[in-house]
This record gives sequence, structure tokens and C-alpha cells, in this order.
Amino acid sequence: MPRLVPVSDAAIAEAAALLRAGKLVAFPTETVYGLGGNALDGKAVAAIYAAKGRPNFNPLIIHVADVAALDELIEWTDDAKLLAAHFWPGPLTLVLPRKKTAPVSLLASAGLDTLAVRVPSHPVARALLRAVALPIAAPSANASGKLSPTSAAHVAESLGDNVDLILAGGKSQVGVESTVVNVTGGTPSILRPGGITREQLSMILRRDVPVFDTAAQDEKALPSPGMLSSHYAPHLPVRLNVASPEKGEAFLAFGPDLSAQPRDGYRNLSRSGGLSEAAANLFALLRELDDPAFTAIAVAPIPDTGLGLAINDRLRRAAVR
Ligand code: TXA
Ligand code: MG
Repeated sequence: MPRLVPVSDAAIAEAAALLRAGKLVAFPTETVYGLGGNALDGKAVAAIYAAKGRPNFNPLIIHVADVAALDELIEWTDDAKLLAAHFWPGPLTLVLPRKKTAPVSLLASAGLDTLAVRVPSHPVARALLRAVALPIAAPSANASGKLSPTSAAHVAESLGDNVDLILAGGKSQVGVESTVVNVTGGTPSILRPGGITREQLSMILRRDVPVFDTAAQDEKALPSPGMLSSHYAPHLPVRLNVASPEKGEAFLAFGPDLSAQPRDGYRNLSRSGGLSEAAANLFALLRELDDPAFTAIAVAPIPDTGLGLAINDRLRRAAVR
């Protein structure tokens, strides 16, 4: 079994030392747990792809403790500066032109001339990034194509011995990944909906920020290769927008549900109909219902506004076979 260590100053110092030595450390962020490796070290980055079983063309997000650390990695644009000032630290990833002199492993950005960067807000992630003082490449700490982890136990289940240390820091508060925004120049667009909403982005940039339409593109042209359709897959089939489940199905409800009898395989994302609460619960409840005792996971309709955009994006991917 992997080493699961409660957060302490000593644990953070040990995790930083492991990262400097080219090892992999899983750590909590406000969105989901990340599987970190030194972004400057090609071997460490290769070990991340291997641990996840991730196709090499899918680039990684580079995490740093503060904005200043990005100056040697990327070319700033005005839109990026505005979004960074408003939403960092926090659940936002900016895709920017990669500096020619950036020391980041080319494997981390999968050969693209852009780099995805993020300053997380979780206190443990921040303490670790400050202690290691290196840019850290960190995808979600799950096997490729599977549900993202929102607790240390999820990481242990999904990655087993493929991670050298897991910093156990409780449940991730946001529960869905960061919003990935293309701000390389021209019209900014959302490559992956996430913890910062389209409405929030549009307000700060004072114009609508469209969601990049993956359906209209062929896979090779995708600017964000992680948006492949089958992703976040539970083992069971997933059925969406279901008002009442069929016999044998597990049910993931949303909002007050007075008619539902207490039954096996019933979970509610948020009884009060709160989208933040629903996002925080999403991956953990999908895991709980992903049990061969059921034929499928039926999911109630979720409103497509605010954080609902990210929730529905993950659910649609979970439903692709
Ligand atoms: O919340 C998060 O973002 C979590 C935590 C750990 O920070 N990380 C995460 O990483 O979700 P990952 O690797 O599972 O997803 C990264 C996403 C993928 O969709 C990937 O294709 C996209 O970011 N991406 C990375 N680099 C890119 C680039 N240069 N251009 C476009 N998309 C990029
Ligand atoms: Mg992921």
C-alpha cells in the first residue's frame, strides 16, 4: 500500500524533499487531489504519465506557489493578468504561450508551444509549493480516464503503489477540477468548465467567454487534449436527466426529493439544490454508487448554470461508453 501521511510541517518537508529527488507526491488542492512531480525533471514527468497510464499527448498543468514564479515560464497577456489578479490563488488554469527559455520539461506540455499554469489556494498545496520552490506538474491523482479523487483514500485506491507519498489533507472543497481558459491572445475561451464559472470569467473580462465546442472539432485539433469524450468513467453505465430510476439502477438525485423512499443506491448531490455542494460531492458519490450490485447509475437533471456547467460536463463524459 502507498504511504498515506497526515499533514504536518514534517510531512510537508518530507514531501518537498521527495519531489526534489524526482519522486511523486499526491497532495490536496481545493479542486481535487493532484499527483505532483518536478516539472523541470523529464524523468519525474514521465513517471507521472506512467503512474496514471495517461496517453503522452495529454499535457499537464504546472502549479506554482505565487504568480512571480511564472515570469520565466510563460508570456503574459492582458487577459491573463486580469484573471490571475481576480481568481488566484484559486480553481483557475490559464493556458499561455510558453517562453522559449522555459526550463519546464517538454513532455509536461506534450510538445505544445503553450503551457497551462495555476496557483492553487489550498493551504497544504501552497505550503508544499513554497517548501519545494519548484514548478510542480500535477494532473488529478487518479488512473487516466477514471473518476477524479477528492480525498486521500480515493488516491490510494486509484494509484496504489504508483505514488511515493500521499499527503492526507481532508476532502477537496470545490470537488471539480479547475476551469481551463485559453488566454494565449485573441478571444479567450473555456477549454474545460470547472471551479470558476463562465459568468465569473465573463464579468471580469467584460465580455462573454465562450465554451470551446469540442463536438465540432476532430480530436487532433483539440486545443485541450484532456477533453476527450470518454473521461471520468465509473465502471457502470451512466444515464442522465432521469426523473425516476428504473428497477436495479442506483440513483444520484439533486435537490429536495420527497417521493424517494430510503433505498439502496440512493444518494443526493445536494438536498437544498446547492450547486457548490453538488460539485463538492460529485466524484465521491459517483464512486459510492459505482457498485456491480446495480445495473447503471441514473442521474437527476442538474441546472446548466454556474457550477452546473462543470458538473454536467463531467457527467456527460461519465456517460460516454
Ligand atoms: O483542478 C485541477 O486542475 C487539477 C488539480 C490537481 O490542480 N488538475 C487537473 O489536471 O485536473 P489534469 O491533468 O487532470 O487536467 C489538465 C487539463 C487537461 O484537460 C489538459 O488537456 C489541459 O488541462 N491542458 C494542459 N496543458 C494544456 C495546454 N498547454 N493547452 C491546452 N490544454 C492543456
Ligand atoms: Mg484529470
